[in-house]
Amino acid sequence: MAEQLFFQSTDKLSRYAELRPQLEALIGSETDAVANMANFCAALKAAFGWFWIGFYVVKEEQLVLGPFQGPIACTRIQYGKGVCGTAWAEQKSQLVADVEAFPGHIACSALSKSELVVPVFKDQKVWGVLDIDSTTLADFDQTDQVEIEKLMTWFAGHL
Ligand code: SME
Repeated sequence: MAEQLFFQSTDKLSRYAELRPQLEALIGSETDAVANMANFCAALKAAFGWFWIGFYVVKEEQLVLGPFQGPIACTRIQYGKGVCGTAWAEQKSQLVADVEAFPGHIACSALSKSELVVPVFKDQKVWGVLDIDSTTLADFDQTDQVEIEKLMTWFAGHL
């Protein structure tokens, strides 16, 4: 296993392209879900440096905090609550340019300004969500949503 990931591109789409084969090398042959979620977050952090990147996993009808990179965070989120609970309930990604404008947003950190939450599907059900936060307003766009969704479709095969 490589000791660190390597990125040289400056444009976003190329960086996603550089990330994918490195993720495959890191996660492709590992079957442990926690190990894979942990390395997935660390790899996204290395690639993009976002403020907070983490998983919430559906357990006993709640989202429960899983592996993450960043400051401490809320442990449990109810169905339909916040950006994460909404992604779970609606079974679709939530691209939030300004968290203050999202009704019911759960502020784990006052520093978080924009957010992208992508559901992870297993057996046609929401298994969990990947939550990414930025300290910059409108830091995520359609490219991020599409690329992260593609990554999560691939990643779901390694849970
Ligand atoms: N903001 C999220 C809560 C999780 S933290 O951002 C890590 C939400 O509204 O669901």
